[in-house]
Amino acid sequence: MCGIVGYTGPKPAAPLLLNGLAKLEYRGYDSAGLALLTPQGRLKIIKKAGKIGNLVAAVKKAHISPTITAGIGHTRWATHGHPTDRNAHPHTDCGGEVAVVHNGIVENYEKLKKQLQAKGHHFKSQTDSEVLAHLIEEGLKHQSAVHSRQPAGKAKAWVEAVRWALSQIEGTYSVVAVYEREPESLIGARAGGGGLVVGLGKDENFLASDVPALLAHTRRVYYLDDNEMVILSPSGTRVVSVLNGKPIPKKVSEIQWSAEQAEKGGYPHFMLKEIMEQPRALEDTFNSRLDLGTGEVLLEGKFWSSPFVREFKKITLLAMGTSFYAAMVGKFLLEKYLRVPVEVDNASEFRYRDPIIGKDTLAIVISQSGETVDTLVALREAKAKGAKIAAICNVMGSSVTREADGVLLTRAGPEIGVASTKAFTTQLGALWLLTLHLARVRKAMPPAELKRKARELARLPMMVGALLKQRKAVEKLAKLYAKYFNFLYIGRGIQYPIALEGALKLKEISYIHAEGYPGGEMKHGPIALIDSKMPVLAIALKSSGVYEKILNNMAEVKARSGKLIALVEKGDKLAGKKADHVIEIPAISEDLSPLLSVVPLQLLAYEIAKLKHREIDQPRNLAKSVTVE
Ligand code: AGP
Repeated sequence: MCGIVGYTGPKPAAPLLLNGLAKLEYRGYDSAGLALLTPQGRLKIIKKAGKIGNLVAAVKKAHISPTITAGIGHTRWATHGHPTDRNAHPHTDCGGEVAVVHNGIVENYEKLKKQLQAKGHHFKSQTDSEVLAHLIEEGLKHQSAVHSRQPAGKAKAWVEAVRWALSQIEGTYSVVAVYEREPESLIGARAGGGGLVVGLGKDENFLASDVPALLAHTRRVYYLDDNEMVILSPSGTRVVSVLNGKPIPKKVSEIQWSAEQAEKGGYPHFMLKEIMEQPRALEDTFNSRLDLGTGEVLLEGKFWSSPFVREFKKITLLAMGTSFYAAMVGKFLLEKYLRVPVEVDNASEFRYRDPIIGKDTLAIVISQSGETVDTLVALREAKAKGAKIAAICNVMGSSVTREADGVLLTRAGPEIGVASTKAFTTQLGALWLLTLHLARVRKAMPPAELKRKARELARLPMMVGALLKQRKAVEKLAKLYAKYFNFLYIGRGIQYPIALEGALKLKEISYIHAEGYPGGEMKHGPIALIDSKMPVLAIALKSSGVYEKILNNMAEVKARSGKLIALVEKGDKLAGKKADHVIEIPAISEDLSPLLSVVPLQLLAYEIAKLKHREIDQPRNLAKSVTVE
């Protein structure tokens, strides 16, 4: 996934674009670059491998004039070609008159590159994206001839050249292009590829991959849908179809996020800020949706009151990574309270399996970003097979939300840290809202129980807040365990997905090898790993129906000199005395416990990674949203 910014207006473009890229650095950070349009109609390209700081230094050294007030920028997460200056975006055509920045994959780029080279085009990089610049160059040759004698022929030729170039692409793209001879108009377009949002200002307009890059300038935005392109000038924007060039009206929305929300808010890392924001994020997600008097859940959109939600016969949950673990928790809730079969599928597996689903299936896709390509394609596969689609997502206007039949937005606010935290707990909260809503409309839960559950749910933000006060205790534990090279997390029942999530958090930000297992699996292999150098974290909550079983697992670990951390209910001495160290959480019903048990595991991973001086918000090799396979 990459970060894209574009600007045209009266202000100096370079500092504005660099600040926008800095807000998007979480989307990919192995190289970055700018293409600036000088008032004399010349393109100036500056691009550097490494983090955005390298680009900032290069721009400073170039003494860019403040009279340059239009340009585009890009921060990259490499898919083709190593992160080098040459492979950094923007890429230009042979004549250096056209520059493009691209997010996505041009799947037919080898074929196109060969065709273009046969026509005399010279390529400078190993990337797939560069073909876009040369295709536009080809398009301009043809379109300029066609439109040269028409009024505004040059402008039309520019738009048609980009449109033609995009029609040659197989794959995904969010792309922004600039042309020396049309300095007034930036062109942006998308088909998958992570998305593009247009920011509307006064005598200035913006383009970006994501909202945080715009918030300092405007809150009025609209999102490009697939196969749409926007022509952006200081005086205005217009959207046309990539497929037929026809104009497309767009609905402008007002972003509620403050610029501060997208900043670190005084914390050393976005991840810590987002862990500490979870009480507020849960409150916002529940806000105006939970009627504590009746237990009714109020969800936005007609889908949730359609006959289908009363009639569907089965559910399939689709997601990746942390969102997949949320889906695993969702299976427990939905199956228990709706008494319908619920399958959970890793989206990347689902899409290649030819699954048995149809008109009687509700497919629930869960995605923080709403742009994860595996999840998006699995959504389309399920839809193609007749299923109705519900999306639990954190980004309004993202692809998943626009292709679903029903949407349940988590209101976690921007999640910048690559390791997902508040998005996960709000996904669990949203799954609870969904379960209660469906249980009510399908008459699967008596009103008194609905009311009770709704009230328990409403207490969670406060309980999470109280739990976060344990941060110091977890910090002490981290000091004892940061030295290990491996870790096992075990849980049973609804806590098994939390064991997986705890292991993922640790491995993705501390680079310690950590695995999650159902406790019942220990005797089937993992117990061979246990010795004094293999710490085990066991989630052993008294509310669990298999509490005694996990206590047995703990005894087996200790009998083999394993180091044992137990996550237990406050005051549970029985479990506590079996472990070397204990993390306590407040007593709560088993079904709601994942929203609490995950929090200390997030903190443990964070504190260990901090002790190991890791790049916590931007762990190596990872990006915030995986928009390429
Ligand atoms: C979780 O910490 C990771 N960042 C990753 O597993 C993530 O959950 C996964 O890529 C899915 O992303 P999504 O929720 O945006 O679809």
